[in-house]
Amino acid sequence: MHSISKLTDYSDWEGKYVIVRGGLNVPVVDGLVTNQFRIKRLAPTLKYLTEAKARVILIGHIGRQSNETLKPVYDVLSKDFDVIFAGELLGEQTTKLRDQLKPGQILLLENVRSDDREKTNDTTLAHDLAALGEIYVDDAFAAAHRAHASVVGIPKYLPSYAGLNFINEYNELSEVMEPSHPSLFILGGAKFDTKMPLVNKYLNIYDQLFVGGAFANDFFKAQGLSVGTSLVSELDLTDSPLLNHPKIILPVDVVVKGPQGTRTITPNKVTDDESILDIGPETVSKLSVPVLAAKTILWNGPMGNYENGFTAGTTELAKLVAKADAKSLVGGGDTVATIETLNLSDQFSFISTGGGAMLTFLEHGTLPAIDALNENQATTKG
Ligand code: 3PG
Repeated sequence: MHSISKLTDYSDWEGKYVIVRGGLNVPVVDGLVTNQFRIKRLAPTLKYLTEAKARVILIGHIGRQSNETLKPVYDVLSKDFDVIFAGELLGEQTTKLRDQLKPGQILLLENVRSDDREKTNDTTLAHDLAALGEIYVDDAFAAAHRAHASVVGIPKYLPSYAGLNFINEYNELSEVMEPSHPSLFILGGAKFDTKMPLVNKYLNIYDQLFVGGAFANDFFKAQGLSVGTSLVSELDLTDSPLLNHPKIILPVDVVVKGPQGTRTITPNKVTDDESILDIGPETVSKLSVPVLAAKTILWNGPMGNYENGFTAGTTELAKLVAKADAKSLVGGGDTVATIETLNLSDQFSFISTGGGAMLTFLEHGTLPAIDALNENQATTKG
């Protein structure tokens, strides 16, 4: 394991211009942030730096469109911090506000993806952003799998450190990569291509692996069962050793929807015009045995089609895992949202702010952002 330079390794913050890359990609409806989880997780780093009298220049991305604004994030941050919103990424206004910034203040720049050069990791953007600061702090674990200019480009120009949330994520995820036994890995969701490498890797590390969500449909299909109109991938597991693998647990009942309505059935009863949209209660009840026995539980991805309201499986599983004595680590937007809505966050050992970043870290043990911080360390410390 690498040891990345941390925020707390440096002490001379007073008056320094510090660029913080934050995980600011939060859900917004009608101009209001509807879930502050990621902002709350960034707050300790902002507090640490502003109390140390640094001048913080905060950057991050939001949403899918380049014209989406971080103004709603500013509205939340301004309740707890002395923060100014630049209203643009780079330009005269940003330069003026940056020059006027007082120690302990934060200048929030506009959505870094408003500049096309962000996603292409253009060195000119990294250079222009780096020119605003003297030190770089990356606290955006959720974006750490993106080799973008504000993530991997800026550390080429400035002494760079990982923020407090980033370090927590790194330590917690590293720990569950070597679980205490018995251990259970729960994988849901639908991003088959990102999840398959994890199945292959974690079958060697974990004692049991539960496959839920649309991911399970591939297994049913390969067993020769009808999956009707369910979401499946290109993957063909027919001759795969995964099919009857003794460590893999599959749902024993599923919620399906078809012309005759919604019903809960065993997976071998799905008709050609039905779609599997969630796991059923029998599955959750069966999972209570490995969940309650486990010393480590790692969970990523919802159990059902969350966007269309099939949340019951994820909800019931969240309640069950919350009861476990295990070290429980969970990540992925929809799963985390369920846990927050149920007010169960305190019952989990750690909730990752990362979805894709968590999966990529679990697969490779590193991320582009971590590599960038390590390279920076090698350059600046000889
Ligand atoms: C995030 O911040 O949630 C991650 O970077 C994922 O968002 P993206 O797919 O837009 O990068």
